[in-house]
Amino acid sequence: MLEEIQELDRSASDGIKLIQNLQDLDAYRIKYLARKGLIAELFDNLKSVDAPLRPQAGKLLNELRKNVQSLYDAKRNILELSVANPEKTTDLTLPGRSGWVGSQHPLTQTADEIKRIFFRMGFEVATGPEIEDDYHNFEALNFPPDHPARDMQDTFFISDKVLLRTHTSPVQIRVMEKRQPPIRVIMPGRVYRNEAISARSYCLFHQVEGLYVDTGVNFSELKGTLVAFAKQFYGSDLKYRFRPSFFPFTEPSAEMDITCFICKGKGCKICKNAGWLEILGCGMVNPNVYSYVGYDADKYSGYAFGMGIERIAMLRYGIDDIRILYENDVRFLRQF
Ligand code: DAH
Repeated sequence: MLEEIQELDRSASDGIKLIQNLQDLDAYRIKYLARKGLIAELFDNLKSVDAPLRPQAGKLLNELRKNVQSLYDAKRNILELSVANPEKTTDLTLPGRSGWVGSQHPLTQTADEIKRIFFRMGFEVATGPEIEDDYHNFEALNFPPDHPARDMQDTFFISDKVLLRTHTSPVQIRVMEKRQPPIRVIMPGRVYRNEAISARSYCLFHQVEGLYVDTGVNFSELKGTLVAFAKQFYGSDLKYRFRPSFFPFTEPSAEMDITCFICKGKGCKICKNAGWLEILGCGMVNPNVYSYVGYDADKYSGYAFGMGIERIAMLRYGIDDIRILYENDVRFLRQF
């Protein structure tokens, strides 16, 4: 009898481990725990056990029944839970998941760093509206009506004279309308262009504009400031060059190139084998602009510059498609 009890204990303990569903569990119950099951059968056989051994056998049998019942109950709990709520079943063997810490968007990080560098050189921040009028976006920046330079910037018009600003330069006009020199400001913000969307261009992007107006400001100060910026942003071993260019609101105008920081000027995919990367446009404020804001062009001079934040961030992080900056895919954003 004692051997039979031990044997049943072993087979019931092993058997429960193999059970994966409620049907098999019910068969298990019928086999061991039902009124005609194996345990009940052993209870029936108690009668034939020698009288002195009977109490001990009865005690062991009771323990066996309790043990098998609790194995059965525990298994039923697990199986019922997973049937009712398949996702919520706790699998304690899975590796843990840690929380995700958010981070700033690469464009915000880039803009902040540009701002920090200009703060240290004494610039303040100014902002202006994204919905602009033709006057501030073009006319007061010395784009006469029908001037071909307006075609350089594909404009989203809201009405004849109202538009989404195509650059941050109109903020220069708004600042000068309100204040007298000396003025030393940077003007970050969002701009819009009605261009075909591709890896290289998007319908919106960001720029940082700069403006310095005072008495006796000259081109070498412009160069000095921009070179100091570029060295802090890209590294002090950088080489640079200024190329003549054209913007209606600056005269003379230039574009600044730096040696490609990927190939150090040897030529690669990023710089399209030129060894140089254009990073901004700049120039001395055109005296015509002063006449729109009521400044005395004989007394004051100044410089302005403008750079695209996307372009700078893409060059810096080796991003080859501008659209990814606007998709908010966490697989991309988590890298910053
Ligand atoms: N506004 C120009 C653009 O969007 C960039 C620019 C060039 C701004 C020269 C300036 C400047 O202030 O002096 O292409």
